[in-house]
Amino acid sequence: MKYSKSLIMALVAFGSTLVSGAETSDVHQLKTDTFDEFIKSNEIVLAEFFAPWCGHCKALAPEYEEAATTLKEKNIKLAKIDCTEEAELCQTYGVEGYPTLKIFRGTDNVVAYKGQRKAAAITSYMIKQSLPAVSTVTKDNLEEFKKADKVVLVAYLKADDKAANETFTKVAEKLRDNYPFGASSDAELAEAEGITVPSIVLYKDFDEGKAVFTEKFDEAAIEKFAKTASTPLIGEVGPETYSDYMSAGIPLAYIFADTAEERKELAEELKPIAEAHRGVINFATIDAKAFGAHAANLNLPTDKFPSFAIQETVKNQKFPFDIESKITKDAIKTFVDDFVAGKVEPSIKSEPIPEKQEGVTVIVAKNYNDIVLDDTKDVLVEFYAPWCGHCKALAPKYDDLAAQYAASEFKDKVVIAKVDATANDVPDEIQGFPTIKLFPAGKKDEPVTYSGSRTVEDLISFIKENGKYGAEPIPAAEEDVSESSASSVSSSTKTEEAKEEKTKHDEL
Ligand SMILES: *[C@@H]1O[C@H](CO)[C@@H](O)[C@H](O)[C@H]1NC(C)=O
Repeated sequence: MKYSKSLIMALVAFGSTLVSGAETSDVHQLKTDTFDEFIKSNEIVLAEFFAPWCGHCKALAPEYEEAATTLKEKNIKLAKIDCTEEAELCQTYGVEGYPTLKIFRGTDNVVAYKGQRKAAAITSYMIKQSLPAVSTVTKDNLEEFKKADKVVLVAYLKADDKAANETFTKVAEKLRDNYPFGASSDAELAEAEGITVPSIVLYKDFDEGKAVFTEKFDEAAIEKFAKTASTPLIGEVGPETYSDYMSAGIPLAYIFADTAEERKELAEELKPIAEAHRGVINFATIDAKAFGAHAANLNLPTDKFPSFAIQETVKNQKFPFDIESKITKDAIKTFVDDFVAGKVEPSIKSEPIPEKQEGVTVIVAKNYNDIVLDDTKDVLVEFYAPWCGHCKALAPKYDDLAAQYAASEFKDKVVIAKVDATANDVPDEIQGFPTIKLFPAGKKDEPVTYSGSRTVEDLISFIKENGKYGAEPIPAAEEDVSESSASSVSSSTKTEEAKEEKTKHDEL
């Protein structure tokens, strides 16, 4: 009885939260007849076009509510439009999928929302959108401005320094989605901040709190400064930061560890090394419990942590630190210094080269160049993963394709090959499995990715069309046409499933 009483009370409490939540929502639900008026009477509105059945919309809902509440006091309004009821309105604004988020400054100035769909990200993004590209900073608002985001930039300028002002404004216009920018020409304020004019201060709520740019004002130099100084000395790799690290243009050093405590300790230990290589190598910890599988991509074991590796993100080369060695400041310093000096060889994961080739040619990392880049041959390569169901389904057809070319006059001109991309490092960026590419003879630097249905016929047409030799084997007499058309019908579902498989197996 005790249980059921507290259960009932909990349910009552839960029910009332729901009711009061609905009553006090800060998100404005708009309809066709209220939309224009609402947009026109608010300076800036973020609008979500949604459908009630859409899963991503449901996931966004609580985040959106939270952001709406936070942004209310900044007078930034969040609205939503149910496209199953307001179809025409949604069509007017070119809504094609759900949720679609757009920023309105009046009904004519509409831009896509490009931030993430989390409360904190929405809040930060919208605050930056609501500010002018460069805000005027004074002694009265400086402290508040510093807190506008995790990172803000303030230029301290001479009142008559038009050139510096212009350069800074250009950078601000370009990067306004990333950081709030402010400027001041108050000499006293600069002095109070201990700054010589002109310079730019990047204030941040982590690491050393601020960084100062005192070089000559130049757009590229300021941009680089903003990027470098805003990256935490030792950050964290996760789904939200991974793509930024990969596109940073500099190597990433990973510190894998199971617990937050261990990660903190190791980060502390390696901080001086990160400091010494700031702007040259990014350092970040990674939760080995959640993303341990990623260690395999760096040629590290997935069951032994802590571990350390450097990834050269431009050429996608991996430099794992010896898994048997202890991670200490001295050992990592030597390893990182050697890496920078070009003394560490990239690790290449490869299966052994097959002793003899039969049927589909087997590519491994060690024979990749010899086979794929053979300039006299059109080489079709299937990048597969052993766990991938669609790869298994393709296998018999792919065998058939190889057999047809082997039996034809093109046997020395066309190679049908496959590579297990989970067991071999390949230079190609593989987005999902299977990925099929043709490396045409004479045009090895222009591979063509296959996107047709996975049937023998269509693969042959692809090779014929894109290869140097226009090679088409004489069709076998008893080819079963009904089977191949059946599989092409289901190809769109396959792409969907392939995407799912990819997300399941590659979380970052
Ligand atoms: C920069 O130039 C703009 C436009 O002339 C001006 O409004 C602004 O006050 C200047 N900023 C500073 C800090 O001098």
